[in-house]
Amino acid sequence: MGELRNLISMQDLDRKRIDQILSVAAEMEAVAVKRSRILESKIMATLFFEPSTRTRLSFESAMLRLGGSVLGFAEAGTSSAGGKGETLADTIRTVERYADVIVIRHPLDGSARVSAEFSSVPVINAGSGSEEHPTQALLDLYSIKKLKGKIDGLSISLCGDLKYGRTVHSLGMGLSLYDVTIKLAAPQALRMKPAIIDEMKKAGVNVVEVDNVEDAVKDVDVIYMTRIQKERFPDIREYDKVKGRFRLTSEHLPLMREDAVILHPLPRVDELDAEIDNTPHAKYFDQVYSGVILRMAILKMILT
Ligand code: NCD
Repeated sequence: MGELRNLISMQDLDRKRIDQILSVAAEMEAVAVKRSRILESKIMATLFFEPSTRTRLSFESAMLRLGGSVLGFAEAGTSSAGGKGETLADTIRTVERYADVIVIRHPLDGSARVSAEFSSVPVINAGSGSEEHPTQALLDLYSIKKLKGKIDGLSISLCGDLKYGRTVHSLGMGLSLYDVTIKLAAPQALRMKPAIIDEMKKAGVNVVEVDNVEDAVKDVDVIYMTRIQKERFPDIREYDKVKGRFRLTSEHLPLMREDAVILHPLPRVDELDAEIDNTPHAKYFDQVYSGVILRMAILKMILT
């Protein structure tokens, strides 16, 4: 297997590569605690043209734990791209001269791929429009493996906004490389795009579609809840029609398998009731920490 250069789409990764990333991540658990200096000479730039808490800060935490340095912006308005109309290409051609790796989040589909084409340093996609969020998918796979001891053989429910949610697009592609059953649970208006469902089926995945939370939580090992992506709706009235319609609350707990785990990429709004937090099913804050571990693995693999 060759080196890992850019990380743009889950479609660029095969099962062998994903398993390799997950096993490097497992090695990072101990390194995260005692810290390391392997990336002491390296600089990571974070270019965030959209809001973020976990993705940006976990990338920074990962880099700092490996001894590296970080720079960047968290608000496009403070950069020349936002404030002065600089093109993405020019921004990339500038930042590649300041850093050894570029981590980018941008509202446009394809933005990370285009950035990689212009960049002489590796580019990592930290969220491109509603299209993809590959490092989130990898940390989700890592969390599932850590919690369940395996991925093959599991039944997983992807719930919420499957139309605009980039995390479920990437996770769906990643899971398709394993022997799993995937339940797609969304209100009719927010169904997963048929093209992605076809890809999953072609990969041999058993795909089931449901349109309510009750069916979503039954008979599965993992319930992956997501936020309705308000900011991606072309018409806010369409959002108003679906908001609050797909909520996981303590009423659903009796329907779930005793050992089912609930994951969520976060942030949540009202789709995952805080009452769930204190139940043994709630694993989303442990999942947050896996974000640091997984991103340490990615930075190590790309930069050494
Ligand atoms: C997600 C994103 O930005 O796509 N957040 C994250 O990175 N953990 C999910 C979301 O915003 O709903």
